[in-house]
Amino acid sequence: MTSQPAAASPREPLAQVLERWCVRVERELDAWLPAATAVPGRLHAAQRYSVLGPGKRIRPALVYATAATLGVPLEQVDAAACAVELIHCYSLVHDDLPAMDDDDLRRGRPTCHRQFDEATAILAGDSLQVLAFHLLASHPGLPAEPAVRVRMIDTLAVASGTAGMAGGQALDLAAEGGSLTVADLESLHALKTGALIRASVLMAAHCRPGLGADQLSALGIFGDRVGLAFQVQDDILDVEGDVQVIGKPPGSDEARGMPTYPAIAGMESARARVRQLHEEASRQLAAHGWQDSPLADLSHWLLTRNR
Ligand code: IPE
Ligand code: IPE
Ligand code: MG
Ligand code: MG
Ligand code: MG
Repeated sequence: MTSQPAAASPREPLAQVLERWCVRVERELDAWLPAATAVPGRLHAAQRYSVLGPGKRIRPALVYATAATLGVPLEQVDAAACAVELIHCYSLVHDDLPAMDDDDLRRGRPTCHRQFDEATAILAGDSLQVLAFHLLASHPGLPAEPAVRVRMIDTLAVASGTAGMAGGQALDLAAEGGSLTVADLESLHALKTGALIRASVLMAAHCRPGLGADQLSALGIFGDRVGLAFQVQDDILDVEGDVQVIGKPPGSDEARGMPTYPAIAGMESARARVRQLHEEASRQLAAHGWQDSPLADLSHWLLTRNR
C-alpha cells in the first residue's frame, strides 16, 4: 500500500505549510493551557510562558507531516502534536534548571526559573507533562478507537521515560566533564532527543488504519535517523550558532565540559554525520513511495536549519 500525500501538497512552499501547522498547534495549545487568571495563577503563567514562547514546533510539524503523508486527517493528530510539544517544553524547562544545564536564556527570553523561580519551574514542567497525556486521552479530534489512543499514549510515555528522553538526560548528566565514544554519544542522543522525534512520527502513523508492519518500521527508522541528526545539529549550533538566531547562548556545552559530537569527532565529521543520517532517513521514505511527500520536504528542511 502506498499512501498519497493529502492535506499538504508538496508543491506548496514548505515555509508556508510550516507556518500553517505552527499557527494550528499554537491555537490548540493556547486553548488547552489553563488561563493565567485561574488559581494557581503563577503556575499557570509559567506553563503558558514556557509553551507559548517562540519555539520552532519541529515535533508538531513532524506529526502533521506524517499525517499528511499518510492521508490521516489533521484533526486526528492535533492531540499528538500538542502532547509531544508539551513534553518537549517540560523537558526544556527542567533541562535549563541550575541542577541540570543552568541556562539563563531559552527561545530568546529568560528561562522559566529565571522569569519565575525554581520551584515554579519544576511544577510547571511536571504539570505540562501530565497535560500531554490528558490531551491524548480526551481530545475530541482523536480517532474513536480506544486501542489507537492507548497506542499513542504508550508511544509517548515510553519515549518520555527512562527508555527515552529522561533516560537520555540522565546519561547526559553522567557524561558531563568525562569522555565518551562516538557510539556512546549516539546512544545518548538517540534517547534524549531522538525518542521524542521518533514518537512524533509514530503517533501519527498509529492513526493510519491498515498501515503495514514494514511501513511502521520504516517510519520508526526514519524518526530515529532524523532524531539523531537533529541533536548532532543542535551540538553544531551550540558551537557555531548566533544567539540572536538560536535564542539560547552558544558555548553552553563547552562551558559544562559536555562530550558533544563536534567535541568528540570534530566539526567536519559532525556535519558529514548529519548528511549521512538524512540520506538514510530519505531512503526509508523512498522504499515506500514517500519520496515526494510532506515528510520528505520537512526532513530536507531540517537538514539545512540554522536555528
Ligand atoms: C532544543 O530543541 C533541544 C533539543 C532537544 C535539541 P528545539 O531546537 O526543537 O527547541 P525549540 O522548541 O525550537 O525551542
Ligand atoms: C536537551 O539537550 C535535550 C532535552 C531533552 C531537553 P540540550 O541540553 O543540548 O538542549 P539545549 O541546547 O539546552 O536546547
Ligand atoms: Mg541538556
Ligand atoms: Mg541544555
Ligand atoms: Mg544543546
